[in-house]
Amino acid sequence: MRILGIETSCDETAAAVVEDGRKLLSNVVASSLDLHAAYGGVVPEIAARSHIESIVPVIEEALKLAKTDWRDIDAIAVTKGPGLIGSLLIGVLTARTLALVKDKPLYGVNHVLAHPYAAFITDTALLDYSLAPEPPTLPLLALIISGGHSSLVLIKDHANYQVLGQTADDAVGEAYDKVAKLLGLPYPGGPSVDKKAEIGDSTSVELPVARMDGYDFSFSGLKTAVLRSAQAAAGKDYAFPSSKLPEALDDAQKANLAASFQATAIKSLLGPLVRAVEAYQPRSVVIAGGVAASQELRRQANQALKSVVYPDLKLCTDNAAMVAALAYYHAGSTKPSDPCSLGVFPALAL
Ligand code: KG4
Ligand code: ZN
Repeated sequence: MRILGIETSCDETAAAVVEDGRKLLSNVVASSLDLHAAYGGVVPEIAARSHIESIVPVIEEALKLAKTDWRDIDAIAVTKGPGLIGSLLIGVLTARTLALVKDKPLYGVNHVLAHPYAAFITDTALLDYSLAPEPPTLPLLALIISGGHSSLVLIKDHANYQVLGQTADDAVGEAYDKVAKLLGLPYPGGPSVDKKAEIGDSTSVELPVARMDGYDFSFSGLKTAVLRSAQAAAGKDYAFPSSKLPEALDDAQKANLAASFQATAIKSLLGPLVRAVEAYQPRSVVIAGGVAASQELRRQANQALKSVVYPDLKLCTDNAAMVAALAYYHAGSTKPSDPCSLGVFPALAL
């Protein structure tokens, strides 16, 4: 079964063709990231406008690279939420139109749940992907960490999952992005903090790991603690504006703050994950989402747990292959969506 996936929940316009939920035939991602960099974050109107411009060429390119024409496509899958309303609308309306015109079943999927399904992609004709040799086995425990979400989900079978933990405030990727801004590191913050941290001492600044109930996370206190530590390192008090910090800190101080922040954020993520592994004894553990691209996070997780499955780096950040993969595994237990009425759900919960 060949599924065309479409993803437009944030600033990436993406389309992919995936066969039987595991073979990646194409994965095209056009990002409007450069357009947002000047503003230090995603501007919803710019994202929506750029989806309008890119969506058709991106889909055409995905079909072309997959050497697939419409006759070989068995279904269309699209992210229906959560995300930016204007961005979601472009993807969903395009998918609805194509489903009607090409007469294909349509599946609206949850973006957050799609992230760990990138780990089921184990085969590709594209040469530059390092995929896991085997797909994860169920029940699987998924740590989903991205710019918008930090969730711990037990996927018992493809039709049945349980949310064990969520963030009480900021997503971890959001904390990375805010810390990067504070330190004057380029947008997007995750990769630049991850890189800067390599040359810093992660024990140099003491930062708090939030104590939470159950398997929940919290990152807003950590973010504020980094701000206070940065002000102290610059020899200033709490009233010193954060916008002036980049010029008041030297490179070594920035690296130490980045490394200490990253180490604490990782500790806050791995604590609940390791406890949940002990309590639920899943057969596989998957860490997915944009922050799963962090090499330091992978190193620490591999030390704390026996075998963790990570999607390829290109499938950690937003993409449409994960959307197509999820739709494949859900197709058996879910009815297709109505192409005349599928809506968008900006605040869709897991
Ligand atoms: O999954 P994703 O592309 O979008 C959302 O669904 O939110 O995740 C984007 C997030 C951003 O916050 C970005 O800073 C972070 O993932 N990120 C990283 C790395 N690469 C991207 N965080 C830490 N280390 C990285 N190497
Ligand atoms: Zn995402």
